[in-house]
Amino acid sequence: MSSVDIPREQWATRIGFIFAAVGSAVGLGNIWRFPFQVGQEGGAAFLLIYLLFIVLIGFPAMLVEFVVGRYTERNPVGALKEVGSGAWEYVGWIFIATGFVILSYYSVVAGWTIRYTLLGLQDGYLADAAEAEGQFVELASGLDAILFHALFMGVVIVIVAYGIQRGIELAVKVMVPAIILITIGMAVYAFTLDGASEAYAYYLSPEFSVIAAEWTSILPAAAGQAFFTLSLGMGVMITYASYLGEDRNLAEDGAIVIGFDTAIAFITGLIVFPILFTAGVDPADPGAGAIFVSLAAAFGDLTLGWLIGTIFFGTVAIAALSSAISLMEVVVSYIIDERGVDRSRAAIGIGGGMFLLGIPSAYDLVLLDLFDLFADQILLVLGGLLLTILVGWLISDLAVRELERGIGDLGSIGTAWVWAVRVPVVLALVAALYLGILEYIAFIQEGFLPWLTEQ
Ligand code: TRP
Repeated sequence: MSSVDIPREQWATRIGFIFAAVGSAVGLGNIWRFPFQVGQEGGAAFLLIYLLFIVLIGFPAMLVEFVVGRYTERNPVGALKEVGSGAWEYVGWIFIATGFVILSYYSVVAGWTIRYTLLGLQDGYLADAAEAEGQFVELASGLDAILFHALFMGVVIVIVAYGIQRGIELAVKVMVPAIILITIGMAVYAFTLDGASEAYAYYLSPEFSVIAAEWTSILPAAAGQAFFTLSLGMGVMITYASYLGEDRNLAEDGAIVIGFDTAIAFITGLIVFPILFTAGVDPADPGAGAIFVSLAAAFGDLTLGWLIGTIFFGTVAIAALSSAISLMEVVVSYIIDERGVDRSRAAIGIGGGMFLLGIPSAYDLVLLDLFDLFADQILLVLGGLLLTILVGWLISDLAVRELERGIGDLGSIGTAWVWAVRVPVVLALVAALYLGILEYIAFIQEGFLPWLTEQ
């Protein structure tokens, strides 16, 4: 392999690695997906289960990816070739495919956030819910959507082409602190709104009767959200940990990353719900269009809403960007490591391909759903499940030894980690995969095929 002579890049600083992982984790999943999941799945009851799953499932699963990455110092395909053998290499291929598909439509949604940032500066947001919906439908698909999709992908390509230290690390050192500060500032602002106290009651006091009645849908939704928001299941954390040089305490790094991601999601709830309650919108209503329809309409209603909206959507765009670079880096690192292509070419080629694959998603929302559900509910969960089985059941000794590097002897804690990976994580993923497949079949029958016959 020609790449062997080129020294592999590494993070310049520990904080660089942590910010990159936080930047990957904090994204549309926190700001767009999380509030509407809370809204759909019963408010505070969902929040409680979600927090539990972050600790019980997210934390052990993140360490799985960290140890594989640091041990092998390779991209996900190369890493799995090394620690597994034979067919395990193909799990790495699932990761690459997942990254390719996710970024293709993630970039379309990110393009909307840029469009909505500009909207505040141009004409402001429309206060009428029906008009806001009409505007979203118009902007979400078609030429507009394709242009902003191209713009976003272009920026991702440039950052990734500059490499680990000068590209990704530099970018996240600016973006992540900005996201944290602006989010806190907006929560303080939301606290002053009329609807705040009602919103807090809804968001923060769980009704246990809701959990008892709805657990069949709350549990898988919370498990899926925990995985998505932490960027698990497709080798992002393998790839980022592969650029670690020295022996750091991976458990500590993982806890910091998870702490930040969870804090940002939680604070986003403290922003979104007061705004929705103040504008008189039922939080269970909005669904996937939540921030672009209900929230945008709420901005149309508020004093200085155009300004608050511009800051909000701008922050979402930045958060999406720091996640998108991690998705592209997974695929690019594979091309560089295994094919010996140079970084700039790899970034341009891969980014170009992802842009093309995203065009259908920018053409019609049904196609975006088709890609999103497939990647998110099936590919991601399947990849995560197979990796968990490999690490938890087949190479757990190696994994514990790798985790101990930089920490010291773990004793029974190491065993506890392995069993957390073997049972709760595996069970959660099996359940999520099963439900994900059912949901995908239902979507094909009720959403996609009717759409197709209409064309
Ligand atoms: N975690 C990001 C978010 O919450 C999305 C993301 C980035 C992701 N990379 C990922 C999700 C890898 C799954 C796998 O928006």
